[in-house]
Amino acid sequence: MSEQQPIKLTSLSSKGGCGCKIGPADLAQVLRNLPPAAPNPDLLVGLDTSDDAGVYKLTDELALVQTVDFFTPIVDDPYDFGQVAAANAISDIYAMGGKPLTALNIVAFPIHTLDKSVLTEILKGAGDKLKEAGVTLVGGHSIDDKEPKFGLAVTGLVHPSRVRTNAGAKPGDQLILTKPIGVGILTTSIKKDQLSPEEVSRVTSVMTTLNKTAAEVMESYDVHACTDVTGFGLLGHASEMAKGSQTGIVIYKDKVPFLPRVRELAEAGFVPGGTKNNYGHLEGSVTFPQELDQIGQWMLCDAVTSGGLLISVDGAEAPQLLDKLVAAGVEAALIGEVISEHPGHIVVK
Ligand code: CO
Ligand code: CO
Ligand code: CO
Repeated sequence: MSEQQPIKLTSLSSKGGCGCKIGPADLAQVLRNLPPAAPNPDLLVGLDTSDDAGVYKLTDELALVQTVDFFTPIVDDPYDFGQVAAANAISDIYAMGGKPLTALNIVAFPIHTLDKSVLTEILKGAGDKLKEAGVTLVGGHSIDDKEPKFGLAVTGLVHPSRVRTNAGAKPGDQLILTKPIGVGILTTSIKKDQLSPEEVSRVTSVMTTLNKTAAEVMESYDVHACTDVTGFGLLGHASEMAKGSQTGIVIYKDKVPFLPRVRELAEAGFVPGGTKNNYGHLEGSVTFPQELDQIGQWMLCDAVTSGGLLISVDGAEAPQLLDKLVAAGVEAALIGEVISEHPGHIVVK
């Protein structure tokens, strides 16, 4: 934590954009008008599968995993913001079953109007998180911008046969989630000064926790598919898994772990636009139970920053994987299952 906070970082977002992810519907409209890329047999995972990172085969034993992520401040402490951005960017490498190796910083900063020490703190936070992950910073790029933005491009390695995409889930699998959700609603509440310092540090620590341990533990299990839960929310990312795998997914709403006070804050009106967009985009892809109200439905779609892994593991191995994750200190929970009925569709029970 930095000692002084001269400015409220989360209040610096300029009007007209929320600094959150461009929604899947808008993105699809943009991408649909691009000419198709020339096929390349070495591109193992590319744009077409809406997966976490691209995977490019170098040799039969080695493939590159590449990803990039950046956003506007979602917490006020610059050091914490740097940590969150780094943990979030590295996560996509873990979600693909890879080992992160190197990173590049991406910086936009109002260098003439904001104290330079703020940027130093952001970079320090990111640097410490990279160190924890065993990732080497190899460079970066910065521009002068009226609104701060920060993120990283991360490169990792994976054995081509060990790539975990979101497209391999099989009927009979169980779904394990490795972090609680509600991050979008809580960080929106930070912007509106609704959280106590303890609550801010709780949601911050969820976001700064690396998915490293979870990824290492899952390596020795029969994991068929994996993704991390971020901007599109739990149901959005589960939906991509259901569609990519051509399986049905069942989510047990009472087993999904939420951060404290998520419902209360959602009821008070602190549901971010991104969460409602996620909900709208899922219309027709999710069946909610009658007893779940609008707030409860939004909560399951809440836009997440630096969320946990959603792991689809062979049903017979799921209890053991869950035990191992919990024993390793991961906030893991078994939240659903994969079935052959209603392929591409989610049923919340
Ligand atoms: Co991801
Ligand atoms: Co990402
Ligand atoms: Co993946």
